[in-house]
Amino acid sequence: MSLEVLISEAEVARRTKEMAAEIVASVTATDQPIILLGILKGSVHFLSDLSRALWALDCECQLEFMQVSSWHGEMASSGIVQIKKDLDSSIEGRDVVIVEDILDTGRTLAHLRELLAVRRPKSLQICTLLSKPDARIVDVNAEFLGFEIPDEFVVGYGLDYDERYRNLPYIAVYHQD
Ligand code: IMP
Ligand code: MG
Repeated sequence: MSLEVLISEAEVARRTKEMAAEIVASVTATDQPIILLGILKGSVHFLSDLSRALWALDCECQLEFMQVSSWHGEMASSGIVQIKKDLDSSIEGRDVVIVEDILDTGRTLAHLRELLAVRRPKSLQICTLLSKPDARIVDVNAEFLGFEIPDEFVVGYGLDYDERYRNLPYIAVYHQD
């Protein structure tokens, strides 16, 4: 097994700040903070850095979480999206940004967007750090996209291989060897 750096810590940090600015520009100010809806567990580091980059731009946000699974420990997606933890507050009338680590087949985010739209948020947008366009099966449009990457298995900065490497501070390609 070996790890090959794909996106450095500094590049991730730089792009996260840019994405925070894109988010701020996209929402019209209201008295309610925007809801950053992190998808557990992969989005934790990105959500954390993104939320503080938003604060630096005077944008207040509320942190909420959902956990879904379409993934079974190994390196292939199952195709079934299961809600393991739902939101515990209402999103009606609110500006919501779904924060995800990676857009792969698109099944997770397509499903979530449909599910959440029914709850009548004021706006519903998707922010993903990574996207593998060549792996797409279901068409999903992410309003905010950090980096497009090749169709290879990556770990780090929240992304895991069987629950490992989430705390790697950068994005690396996982080579089985
Ligand atoms: P999708 O539903 O196929 O778009 O899958 C999205 C989910 O699959 C992500 O939230 C990740 O948890 C997982 N995933 C997809 N590609 C990778 C990868 O390269 N490394 C680690 N997890 C991945
Ligand atoms: Mg995962």
